[in-house]
Amino acid sequence: AAQLKGRDFLGLVDFSPEEIRYLLDLAVEIKRKHKAGEAYQPLKGKSLGMIFEKSSTRTRVSFEVGMYQLGGQALFLSRNDIQMGRGETILDTAQVMSRYLDGMILRTFGHRNVVELARGATIPVINALSDQSHPCQALADYQTALEHKGKLEGLKVAYIGDGNNVLHSLMMGAAKLGMHFSSASPEGYDPSERSVQSSIEAAAETGGSVRILRDPREAIEGADIVYTDVWASMGFEEEQKEREKAFKNYQVNEELVKYANPDYLFMHCLPAHRGEEVSEGVIDGKNSVIFDEAENRLHAQKAIMAAIM
Ligand code: CP
Ligand code: NVA
Repeated sequence: AAQLKGRDFLGLVDFSPEEIRYLLDLAVEIKRKHKAGEAYQPLKGKSLGMIFEKSSTRTRVSFEVGMYQLGGQALFLSRNDIQMGRGETILDTAQVMSRYLDGMILRTFGHRNVVELARGATIPVINALSDQSHPCQALADYQTALEHKGKLEGLKVAYIGDGNNVLHSLMMGAAKLGMHFSSASPEGYDPSERSVQSSIEAAAETGGSVRILRDPREAIEGADIVYTDVWASMGFEEEQKEREKAFKNYQVNEELVKYANPDYLFMHCLPAHRGEEVSEGVIDGKNSVIFDEAENRLHAQKAIMAAIM
């Protein structure tokens, strides 16, 4: 715990398996306290800046409410309303914000923006989604899986669809936690080579594994967790039509989930497009835990903030 104080939370790659497990345990404990009505306010008097360059429902609300519950306050800073939108550099923004705030989150396009903000800041910076990764999501997802399955090590995670930010963080999390990850994406939509390589290296230390496949049936075979995400992420809206064609055999539906474990968990970071990446029957079916995942964004992010701020 002590060695997490002052750290940035930019990607799970930067954290050891022990640190990730510590954050998961803390998230479970924070959730328990919250449900029991016990106050937990380690961040009294502290302020969090939240810079958003993209839309958000879950991330914005859960960070803002989470910071309040921890005893602090949060400021929503839309990129277009702060001087960054008129060209003030990220480095200057980072230094100015560091004089007022105790922590910052950034949701942005290029991952280098998050890295640059963290480099310029003297306060902890949290990645609230970049084109490369979405580590807060993966932490909440593994908290959810842990709560439903009682353990994580050895479980099989299958991701079907776009090789995007959500895939990258889910894959790295699985590798760090000793799980078996497989994904299936159409040609041209594979996860980033660098992300795959570093996840394979992380898995080698934990007894986990990583397989990048083409065939959804092969990927989903025997899966304990079945995950998918939208076909066109934020920033890729104009590719929607061509992506619908490329992904048409990658829908998670009743036919495909027959190959998963009968007690598989269906997961999705949300927002979802029913009838595209997932059928209504699956996402609204009895194996779906999508709203537990959404809820756990709150508890997992409170754990991150309490640990690093
Ligand atoms: N899953 C997620 O990050 O949702 P929002 O885009 O609504 O924040
Ligand atoms: N992959 C999606 C996740 C949204 C939470 C996106 O980047 O738009």
